This record gives sequence, C-alpha cells and structure tokens, in this order.
Amino acid sequence: MGSSSNVLQHVLMDPIMYLYMVWQYLLDRILSPIPPPPNAQLSRPRIAVIGAGLTGVSAASHCVGHGFDCTLFEAGDEDSVGGIWTKVNNTSGLQIHSLMYRFHPSVRWENGYPKREKIVGQIQQLWKRYGLDERTKFNTPVTKLYQNKMKKWIVNEPANGDFDGIIVAVGTCGDPKIPHIPGQEKFKGEICHSSSLDGVDGKGKKVVIIGSGASAVEALEFVASSQAEKSTVLARSEKWIIPRNPVVDALLSMNVFGGETPFSCIPESFLRLFFYRDLSDLAPPPGAKGIFTDTPMVNDDVLELVRDGKADWLRSDIKKFTETGVLVNKRAVGVPKGGPGKEIHVEADIAIMATGFDRPSLNFLPDDCFEEGYEPPNWYMQVFPPHHVEICANNCTYVNAIGTVGNYHIGIYTRFLLMYLVDSLARPREPFMKFWINMVRKVKAKAPGGAFDFFTYGELLWWFFFTLVINPFRWKWAFFVLFGIGTALPMSVVRQEDRFRTMTNGSKKIH
Ligand SMILES: Cc1cc2nc3c(=O)[nH]c(=O)nc-3n(C[C@H](O)[C@H](O)[C@H](O)COP(=O)(O)OP(=O)(O)OC[C@H]3O[C@@H](n4cnc5c(N)ncnc54)[C@H](O)[C@@H]3O)c2cc1C
Ligand SMILES: NC(=O)c1ccc[n+]([C@@H]2O[C@H](COP(=O)([O-])OP(=O)(O)OC[C@H]3O[C@@H](n4cnc5c(N)ncnc54)[C@H](OP(=O)(O)O)[C@@H]3O)[C@@H](O)[C@H]2O)c1
Repeated sequence: MGSSSNVLQHVLMDPIMYLYMVWQYLLDRILSPIPPPPNAQLSRPRIAVIGAGLTGVSAASHCVGHGFDCTLFEAGDEDSVGGIWTKVNNTSGLQIHSLMYRFHPSVRWENGYPKREKIVGQIQQLWKRYGLDERTKFNTPVTKLYQNKMKKWIVNEPANGDFDGIIVAVGTCGDPKIPHIPGQEKFKGEICHSSSLDGVDGKGKKVVIIGSGASAVEALEFVASSQAEKSTVLARSEKWIIPRNPVVDALLSMNVFGGETPFSCIPESFLRLFFYRDLSDLAPPPGAKGIFTDTPMVNDDVLELVRDGKADWLRSDIKKFTETGVLVNKRAVGVPKGGPGKEIHVEADIAIMATGFDRPSLNFLPDDCFEEGYEPPNWYMQVFPPHHVEICANNCTYVNAIGTVGNYHIGIYTRFLLMYLVDSLARPREPFMKFWINMVRKVKAKAPGGAFDFFTYGELLWWFFFTLVINPFRWKWAFFVLFGIGTALPMSVVRQEDRFRTMTNGSKKIH
C-alpha cells in the first residue's frame, strides 16, 4: 500500500480514491484464488482456454487458482497477452468507470479511467502471477475442436493433449474492419482506421470520422486533443450516448428485464433533458431506438465539442469519397438510414474509419454448436451450447449490452463450468438448457432488442441466481460459483454423493 507519507498524501488529497484502493486491496486478499507454486502439477479436469486476452487470462487464472490444470492457446505471439488492448492506440482507455472493469479480484486500478498501457499491464501481471506463462502456447490459432473416443476434447491435434473442458475467449474484436467506400482511391488526404491513430497529427486539419460507435467517440476525443481545425462524425445509425457517471451507468445496467419496457421512456427522457439538453435532436428520436436495444456510448466530451462548434455530428449516409472529402446524404431527425435527405460535401484532410472490427470466428467449434434456433448467442446463459455444457464461450457470443465486458462475470462463468465438470448432479442436460433458452425467449418476446441479442448486467445476475437456485445440487456450490470461495466443501459433498450413488445403483463414476 506504499510508504506512510504516500498513504497520508492519498488520504488527504483524494479520500475517495484512497477508499477505492483499500477496497481493492481487501477484494484481492479475500477473493483472489491462491496462485499455484511454480511447476505445480495440477489435477484433472483439464481446461483448454482459447485466447489470451483479458477474458482468457482471467478465466485461466481462476482455473489454476482452484487447482484445475489448464493450457492457454493464443493465435498471436507473446506480445498478444492482453488481446485487443495490445492492438489499439496508446490514447485508448476505458470509457466506463474502472469499478465496472474488475476482470479479476486482484486487479488494482489507480484511477477511474485507466488507459491502454495500464490495462495491458494488469492483464500481463495476472498472467505472470498465476504462472500462466508456463501454460501458454503462442502462435497457435485454434482451427479445430473435437472429441476423441474417450469423449475428451482435442484442440487442433492430439499432440496438444486432451481436455475435459473448453473456455472460448476469442473476444469480439478481431482485425480492423475497413469497408471499401467508392472513390476512396481518389481521396488526396490520409485514410486510417480508428485503432491506428498513434502518430497521426490532426493539428490544424479537417478530420472526418466515419462511424458513430465507441471508436468514433474515442477518435473524436483524439482529434480534438490534437487541435484539429474541425471534426465531423458521419453517423449512419441512431445511437445513444450516456454520461461517464458510474452511478448513472450502473443504474442503467441494473435493468433486470434486460430490454426495453414501458418504463424505458423515463431514463430516455432524463437523458434528453439533463444530458443532451440543447442538443436533444442528436439523441435517437422517441420511438426510433430505445436505450435498451443497442450498446450505448459512454462519453461526456462529444456533446461539449459539438456545443463549442469544434465538431459536427451528421446523421448521414456516405455516397462516396471525393478528392477533397466525402459526399454524404444528410438526413433530418427521424429519417432512417438510407432515407431521403440533402447531399452535402464534407471537406477533409484525414478520414478516420471508425467502422469497427471483424468478429473472430467460432467456426472451430463442432457443428452441433450451431443447431438452428440454438446458435450463438442463443445458448444456455448465452455461453454454453446446449449440446456441450463442457464448452463455455466467455465474452465472445454477445451482440449488444449495457454492462461491461471486463467484470466479475468472467470468474462466475468460469466457476459455473468448473462446477458442471466436477459435479454430474449439478450439470444441466440438453433438454433443460433448451427449455431455459426458450423460457428467456418467451419472457423477452416483446423486447425489441431480441432475447439474447441485447442484455444488461442486471439480467445476467438473475440468470446466475435462477440457475443456482433451480437445482438443489447446485446450492452447495453457490458461494464458490459467485465468489470463488470454498471449493473444498462442495467437492467433499460431491465425493460422498458419488460414493452413495455407486453403492446404491452401481452407477458409473463420472469424473
Ligand atoms: C479501443 C477499445 C476500447 C474498449 N473499451 C471497453 C470498455 O471501456 N469497456 C468494455 O467493457 N469493453 C471495452 N472494449 C471491448 C473489449 O473488447 C473488451 O473489454 C475486452 O478487452 C475483451 O477481451 P477478450 O479477452 O474477451 O477479447 P480480446 O481482447 O479480443 O482477446 C481475444 C484473444 O483471442 C485470440 N484469438 C482469437 N481467435 C483465436 C483462435 N481461433 N485461436 C487462438 N486465439 C485466438 C486473439 O488473438 C486475442 O488475443 C474496448 C475495445 C476496444 C477495441
Ligand atoms: N473505450 C470504449 O468504451 C471503447 C472504445 C472503442 C471500442 N469499444 C468497443 O469495441 C467494440 C467495437 O466498437 P467500434 O466503435 O469500433 O465498432 P462498432 O460499434 O461496430 O461501430 C462501427 C460504426 O461504423 C459504422 N459503419 C460501419 N461500416 C460503415 C460504412 N460502410 N459506412 C458508414 N458507416 C459504417 C457503423 O454504422 P452502423 O451502426 O449503421 O452499422 C457504426 O456506427 C464495441 O464493443 C465497443 O463497445 C469500446
């Protein structure tokens, strides 16, 4: 916690941050599993983790911390530990508060909105702390996953060993997506993707930003800080922006219905009145797109930049690049994408393609993971394919959400998998998993964002709660699954149960 003079300085200068740091220290002490000693021989079940981004590293650290052997398979080289955060701009950072980005109990943030370098540092520290450097195979893209005769999982080829469980952690951001826009060869300025802005000098330049997602907002902040003459965001679709306020963001993410309801007009009106204010026509118009249908952007600066005349936010469809800029069809509020509007020319020296990332493929999974009607994200708890509860696709099946990718649920999902692997009575069968998926579909039948295409953190919590409560054999695991506490007690109960079942009906031991 630092020297006593440092501590005193912290307490006096920033008491809230000091409390935050004390709280993080306690979380680490209470909830972090103990790392195995170097070269430790861990036991079965063995887990293969695919991807060494924040999700894979966190999931693997939980596995080894609870005594489960595991191997990480990463497509990239050693510099890829940290996943997408190793490939974006140095200026990139969290838009949501770091309170909601606690991907492992040992994570220590020193401020509310850490930057890329700090995030990568925390992931790599975790990787080393849990001895995962000994258990990672780099330059190994996973292309095939299948079960051998013993029903063990093989990753690519038998030489890689066999596994009882699989954690897929390939993320949702693969290679930068750069669509071809007519005329772009003629454009005399510079075209770059929003993830490659290091070294781009926007000073005194006119910058056009294509796209209106989180990357566009980040690009806008980047060019504003580099004193561009003017920036223009070309927004094809309606998107909500919400304030960078942890209380507001947490409240929105706690909508347990996980979708738009008749009450959603309340937060939407509040946002228009108190956040957008004079710029309320930049918000999606009433009836066009509810806030609980799509991932909103979290930002305070965009509206200020527009207010100060430093940036324009144009609802528009792109027609083509010209030599000196971009020709667009500017639409009025309420006119949908592709609808009628007025053609205008936006002058530009730099065009930033904030057009997103290709989604990493899940094609290496067996075909039955994509059964019609039960393809991702329509899986049990969104992450377990109904045919294979031994596969947990953590953080890579979702489409839209209000919540966060890098939070406690990574550990919770991992421990659900560990519970299912060691306790056959706690394991759900395929018909029940499908029943659950259909039940969520029924409950959310009227949600415009779909049953699984949009969810909130509040909804995730009731999924966890329901899943633990519905099966009495899972009750003993509740503390372990939710907090990572007490593996020994449920394991000893499982052994007793197994012994009893073997004695009474001669049933086969499952693990
Ligand atoms: C600029 C930027 C800012 C962001 N900010 C936020 C934020 O504020 N809040 C938030 O919640 N989210 C944010 N995100 C989303 C971000 O994707 C997640 O927060 C998180 O980093 C995802 O981690 P991951 O480990 O799931 O995936 P990734 O970090 O994408 O890691 C996946 C890893 O899997 C590897 N891989 C992929 N396919 C294979 C394969 N077939 N075989 C082997 N390895 C494979 C990849 O090489 C990669 O290393 C941001 C994203 C970007 C781009
Ligand atoms: N700090 C942060 O919080 C942060 C920062 C960056 C990224 N991220 C995360 O990273 C992920 C990717 O975000 P992203 O903003 O890079 O991508 P994104 O959310 O997929 O947004 C891409 C944007 O580009 C537009 N677009 C795509 N092709 C286009 C075309 N041909 N013409 C015009 N517009 C086009 C899209 O419009 P349509 O909607 O009409 O398709 C959309 O507005 C998200 O999960 C995001 O939350 C987070």
